[in-house]
Amino acid sequence: MKILSGIQPSGQLHIGNYFGMMKTMISQMESSELYVFIVDLHAMTSVHDRYRLEAGTLEAAADFLALGLDPERCIFWVQSDVPEVCELTWILSTIAPMGLIERCHSYKDKVANGIEPSHGLFSYPVLMAADILLYQANQVPVGQDQKQHLEVARDLAQKFNHLFGETFVVPEPAISQTTALVPGLDGRKMSKSYDNTIPIFLEGKGLKKKVMAIATDATPVEDPKDPDKCNLFAMLKLFATPERLQEVRDLYVGGGAAYGYIKLELLDLISYHFAEARKKKAEYLADPAMLREILKRGADKARAKAMVTLDLVRERVGLKY
Ligand code: ADP
Ligand code: TRP
Repeated sequence: MKILSGIQPSGQLHIGNYFGMMKTMISQMESSELYVFIVDLHAMTSVHDRYRLEAGTLEAAADFLALGLDPERCIFWVQSDVPEVCELTWILSTIAPMGLIERCHSYKDKVANGIEPSHGLFSYPVLMAADILLYQANQVPVGQDQKQHLEVARDLAQKFNHLFGETFVVPEPAISQTTALVPGLDGRKMSKSYDNTIPIFLEGKGLKKKVMAIATDATPVEDPKDPDKCNLFAMLKLFATPERLQEVRDLYVGGGAAYGYIKLELLDLISYHFAEARKKKAEYLADPAMLREILKRGADKARAKAMVTLDLVRERVGLKY
């Protein structure tokens, strides 16, 4: 079983990224052939600043390693270090129906949120399909927001296989029911583009400010509340033990849940949960040469795999005359 997923280095990674994708990936190291990569070419659809992109790429790598990804037990690399993906993107784009790509809501959402509409932003799902198909991945763990992009990858794999003969594995999305959509401070999906995130490695006052800013309703403490409609409860679910969660649930239902106290509890839980990783991240960031070395070794492994698929694709479409 080949499991693959990528993340954009376009801003600080947040707990939505962690629970939606990173944690699942890290937990699969033992049981599968794992491919994890930092999609810097995708990030270029919103980041046009050399220093931000470079620093973001190294930081995302440090994040993954600090959280427990072992580069010896997976293939871990930076997307642009395997340029074959660009060639496959072009080939796929020649069979990608306009209507299919036009229906993707992520493009419209991003434009509505102020990202400049560009051809790259529009064809983002085709590059993502190339990412997945190039490595013949069976499963792609993502958050709910990426489901439609997975459909595009599946459609393109099937269409290519139909036109040129069996070539690509048709990938399946792997979306965890419990963490498919982590809410942000304002109750919308937590996202770097909405400025509503809790970054994984935030600590101290900065973290407190974020947690205290989680939006809650104005129901008085003693009144009963519905935990399943509460954003704060949804976040607590990610960190609290099942026993503690049941106690808090009872407080919500029976009356007596004080949001302020629950926020302080959540603050401690988050701080504690990532304490070890925070230390490790600082160590990785202090040694960028080592980070680069790890990523280059990963890219060599990824590239060897990519070349096998691309060679077959070139033959199938008639580019090997
Ligand atoms: P962002 O929206 O913050 O830019 P990305 O698009 O880089 O996040 O997402 C990286 C991965 O994290 C994807 O697999 C995505 O589905 C997942 N993800 C992002 N936000 C959330 C969230 N709020 N809840 C669950 N998963 C998420
Ligand atoms: N589009 C994904 C996101 O915004 C990132 C991504 C790029 C990806 N290529 C991928 C995810 C391949 C899974 C597989 O989160």
